[in-house]
Amino acid sequence: MVHQRAIRGLAAGAVALAALAAFAGCGNQKGQGNDGGAAADGGSAGGATKIALLLPENKTTRYESQDRPNFEKDVKALDPSAQVVYNNGNQDATQQQQQVEAALTDGAKVIVLDPVDASSLGAVLAKAKAKDVPVISYDRYFEGSAYYTSFDNEKIGELQGNAVLAGLKAKGVDPKSGPVWMVNGDPKDPNAADFKKGATKVLKDAGVNIAASHDTLDWNPDDARQWVAGQLQGGKPKPIAIYAANDGTAGGVIAAAKKAGQTPVVTGQDGEVDGLQNILKGDQYATIYKSYAPQAKYAAEAAVALAKGQKPDAKDTYKNTPTDFVEADVITKDNINKVFKTGQTKVSDVCNTAAVKKLCTDAGINTTN
Ligand code: GAL
Repeated sequence: MVHQRAIRGLAAGAVALAALAAFAGCGNQKGQGNDGGAAADGGSAGGATKIALLLPENKTTRYESQDRPNFEKDVKALDPSAQVVYNNGNQDATQQQQQVEAALTDGAKVIVLDPVDASSLGAVLAKAKAKDVPVISYDRYFEGSAYYTSFDNEKIGELQGNAVLAGLKAKGVDPKSGPVWMVNGDPKDPNAADFKKGATKVLKDAGVNIAASHDTLDWNPDDARQWVAGQLQGGKPKPIAIYAANDGTAGGVIAAAKKAGQTPVVTGQDGEVDGLQNILKGDQYATIYKSYAPQAKYAAEAAVALAKGQKPDAKDTYKNTPTDFVEADVITKDNINKVFKTGQTKVSDVCNTAAVKKLCTDAGINTTN
């Protein structure tokens, strides 16, 4: 286990205070999910060890409702004197780069970063390096990070591809009997490329005809909806299944398909409340349920260790970077109860109307507590 560095220089405290004033001005950026920097995190923390957590967006609920609170709780438990300074990039790469710079000015000892655009980090990473501030790849890998924690994203893609096949099988549809379309994630997100790679491999191995494929800009469900709507307009053969890279884009796919009177097999990712409800309604076959608590814990442990100048423990290595991976599960109506077991998802959030409650009960979900 790590030991806390006992003495912190007065000079460092003074620099941090000066930077705090600068950061408080920058922290309050447009969009939601920004806490205004250090000031909103409980006021002046003087010489507290600052750890910046920078997440990419707030449309996918995991970031604000799981990753952030889990990470803050874990850091507090590991080092009560540490302070997490949080900002959300609102899917804007430039805004997020400013948040990295602000964190450096603010005297962050470690930056935990889930990048909006992993390929545009060069300049800010150089600044972090010049200041000797280690940066952690959170969920999305980027080169030059001191530690990485995520899911094995190509494997997630394989799970997704298999879910498409299982959905077709459950419907009694031969996977070679018609076209399958792919609605992938944001091209700036390296995970999206891995999901696509894994899913494509599984589908191709099964002899599936991937007739059309689209990379959704910014993971935007409306982009997904518009693309599918456009595709369905022509006289092309209709798809037997549409792979969607996450539950948000799956929602867009379902809306477009319904409007055109189509019922392809649709799959997603993230175990979002909307996705789970779509599964209960029969509009979506599966989602990938990721347990976010272990991921935040790995990141918190690594961040606290690095802040103390220690090497993080890691069970794995990815691209020469110490790494910890977390396992994920495919969820369908048959095993939907699994998502409620860890407390990550609440029955009351999913089974929230009389109509859905009925579907919940039919699927064997206990809605009485
Ligand atoms: C991925 C992440 C997914 C999903 C998606 C949309 O990088 O691994 O869990 O949240 O981004 O933001």
